[in-house]
Amino acid sequence: MIFVIAKGTVMKARVVYESIFGNTKAIAEAIAEGLAARFETETVEIASASESAAGLDLIVIGGPTHAWAMSRPTTREAGRAQARKLGIDPVSGDTGVREWLARVVDGAGTKAAVFDTAVESFGIFSGGSAAKGEAKAFRRAGFELIDEPQQFRVAVKDDRTVLIAGELERARKWGEQLAERAAP
Ligand SMILES: Cc1cc2nc3c(=O)[nH]c(=O)nc-3n(C[C@H](O)[C@H](O)[C@H](O)COP(=O)(O)O)c2cc1C
Repeated sequence: MIFVIAKGTVMKARVVYESIFGNTKAIAEAIAEGLAARFETETVEIASASESAAGLDLIVIGGPTHAWAMSRPTTREAGRAQARKLGIDPVSGDTGVREWLARVVDGAGTKAAVFDTAVESFGIFSGGSAAKGEAKAFRRAGFELIDEPQQFRVAVKDDRTVLIAGELERARKWGEQLAERAAP
């Protein structure tokens, strides 16, 4: 059921993702499923996502952690090369969350939440977080963050990254929680 706050007013959410191997895309779709109970929700790959939040009640955005942070053109190229070697068609191209954010003029107080994906264990170091940088940039751009940045984990198996068990369900639940927070 779509959440309606007044006659003719439908709450609208957009989930935007950047992804090379498809894991962040799968998480984005699960978040959207959770939001869909209360919001009219669309899921959009970052290159096709408008920089304007006009008409939206909530925007959720996420991308993979590359080199401890949001991806850069060089890390994306490395990721795409790795994907092609494995016979995987990379999901995203030249535009990443970083480039998208640089084009945002004004979040106009729109409610927002950010997430990333990262490997389960990255040697003895923390694997870092793209979403922490996303959160800072979102605040600077005038969005209102309604939750802490979230991280979803992948494992590396035979050179491939796969979501660890339970992450899709956690993402769906997070979507439901965001919908509850963002609804009036
Ligand atoms: C070039 C490159 C750099 C990466 N750097 C990190 C890192 O610093 N920390 C980490 O946890 N994972 C790192 N990863 C793993 C990615 O986070 C992982 O591939 C991603 O979450 C998978 O999402 P996707 O399937 O949507 O591309 C890196 C991956 C690539 C390709």
